[in-house]
Amino acid sequence: MAWGGGAMGGAGAPFAGSTAAGSNLPFAGVPSEMQERVDKLLAHEPVHDHEVVVYEPIASDTLPFSLRRLVLPHRRALAGAMVLVVIETVALQTGPLLTAIAIDDGIRLRNRAVIAAVAGLYVLSVLVGAVTSRSRIAWTGRVGERLLYDLRLKVFGQFQRLSIDFFSREKAGRLMTRMTSDLDNLTQLLQEGLVQLFVQGLTVVFVSGVLIALNPPLAAITLLVVVPSMLAATVWYRSASDQTFDVVRDRIADVMAHLQESLSGVRIVTAHNRQSRNVAEHRTIVDAYRRSNDATAMVGGAYGGVTETVGMAGQVVILVVGGRWVLNGSLEIGELVAFILYLAAFFAPIQQLVQLYNTYQQGQASVRKLRGLLAEEPSVAQHPNAEPLPLLRGEVRLEGVSFAYTPGRDVLHGIDLTIPVGETFAFVGETGAGKSTIAKLVNRLYDPTAGRVLLDGIDIRGATLASVHAQVGTVPQEAFLFGGSIRDNVTFARPDASEDEVIEACRLVGLSDLLERLPTGLDTPVHERGVSVSSGERQLLALARVFLARPRILVLDEATSNLDLRSEGRIEEALDTLLEGRTAILIAHRLATAMRADRIAVIHAGEVVEIGSHEALVAKGGRYADMVATWHRHGQGSASEE
Ligand SMILES: Nc1ncnc2c1ncn2[C@@H]1O[C@H](COP(=O)(O)OP(=O)(O)OP(=O)(O)O)[C@@H](O)[C@H]1O
Ligand SMILES: [Mg+2]
Repeated sequence: MAWGGGAMGGAGAPFAGSTAAGSNLPFAGVPSEMQERVDKLLAHEPVHDHEVVVYEPIASDTLPFSLRRLVLPHRRALAGAMVLVVIETVALQTGPLLTAIAIDDGIRLRNRAVIAAVAGLYVLSVLVGAVTSRSRIAWTGRVGERLLYDLRLKVFGQFQRLSIDFFSREKAGRLMTRMTSDLDNLTQLLQEGLVQLFVQGLTVVFVSGVLIALNPPLAAITLLVVVPSMLAATVWYRSASDQTFDVVRDRIADVMAHLQESLSGVRIVTAHNRQSRNVAEHRTIVDAYRRSNDATAMVGGAYGGVTETVGMAGQVVILVVGGRWVLNGSLEIGELVAFILYLAAFFAPIQQLVQLYNTYQQGQASVRKLRGLLAEEPSVAQHPNAEPLPLLRGEVRLEGVSFAYTPGRDVLHGIDLTIPVGETFAFVGETGAGKSTIAKLVNRLYDPTAGRVLLDGIDIRGATLASVHAQVGTVPQEAFLFGGSIRDNVTFARPDASEDEVIEACRLVGLSDLLERLPTGLDTPVHERGVSVSSGERQLLALARVFLARPRILVLDEATSNLDLRSEGRIEEALDTLLEGRTAILIAHRLATAMRADRIAVIHAGEVVEIGSHEALVAKGGRYADMVATWHRHGQGSASEE
């Protein structure tokens, strides 16, 4: 686990820094006028009780995922299905035995009563078979659906549990495959396959028993011909199919990944005339998938062919040997007929088993893929003894924070920084300097590789993830909207917000105009990813969302970068209201936005190179002063800035 990496250095208790956690002492360095505003805000604002839906991070399984462990909790239901199956099998397998009795004791001895009785029993067995078969199919279908239901929730839970880095590593399309194609692949096995494996296996055992009882020497000959060659074929098939089915799983994931990217990036595809190139690429990928399926068909075909031949050979041997025994009088003809009928009943389930084994192997390939996914541990994990953060006042402190997305390539180097309660603090700096990365560390989307992040003096690695995310509100650089209404999107962090609060939040960020223009107002649907609204509107909605959440610490990463100057000016006022008494971290390329902060830090190549108020930094004549000078040259505040 990421936790416990030894970077904490606290003697004894891992969170030795959390001195002020329990006490109500103000933090050192809180300016008195700030203190007043913060107290006012704290008095007015609710404790974060909208955290009512307690998210229980899905406990990780200590044991690897397997078919057996999936099935185990449902063993009772499966056992029920098995009972039905046994009744069904016995009922359906009495036919040949009754036929033998009818021929030998009825027809040959010309005993009508026996024939009539046997016919009656035959009808009865068929009826029993039909009725049990019907209930068994319904039952196994239900059990299979339950298993799939469990599995779907398990996989989705795992997606919710994993940390951001996993999702930036894995292609969305490949992950979708685990949830769609891999699960579908298991459907057949779980719904019918497992029980059928049992039914057919049982049939084979039952029929073998009958064959042995009927005529031990004939049975011995049959089994000697059949069993060793079947076993050899199965062992070969198992090793050959494992690989081919794994390849199929990977190829279908490639197909889905390419499809997903092409759909999400459709605008760029069109804009850069990549359509035909895309089709060509897709053709290559689909072709690889086709070829992988061809390979499994070849392997499966070879296995099926061998087993069928073995079955035929068995029947030929019995006809030759049994026929001679009938001729020399050591075997009754009825017995031979029954034997041959049972032989057919012996090979039918074996053929079925071959098919099922195919399904089973295919399902196992999916199980292996899902096992890999379910074994993935979140890199940003909640400590087992984590406690919720108390209601924060809002001091943010970074202590020697370094961070690397890929090990060894630090993008932040030993950042030390304290943002006192209630301060509005801005980060400016070149593209790729590491500003967004700092934001991601403050609300613990990632853990620093060295150093620590403290909120009100509490190391956030010791707090529950939910409590950190509830009190640190973030508007990320790429605002995201979900498919749903505007209302759904705004109330995302606080589904219990009242209508008035929602309208107020929208008004504050300047969305009133948009809402008035829309005939259905708040209930207007927005498209997934927010492609049906403009980028600026998307940002406004993201701002309204965070307004409504009333976090104690606010992180706005280029939250107003897509707004025209007038809109930005309009929400400046709203921001002032929202930021009052709240700690805020603004990340901005536009200096007009950064200027409004109490203090500004210039980030350069992952380090804080300057820090101070706008005036102080301009007076200092360093990087910030250069930035301001450039900005002025390009016409500050005029429309030409856009
Ligand atoms: N998920 C990631 N995996 C690997 N490297 C990343 C990842 N995200 C960002 N980086 C790298 O980390 C560095 C800092 O990125 P960051 O997003 O913090 O920059 P930024 O200062 O916010 O830039 P911008 O002004 O363009 O938003 C960049 O060099 C970037 O390439
Ligand atoms: Mg950024």
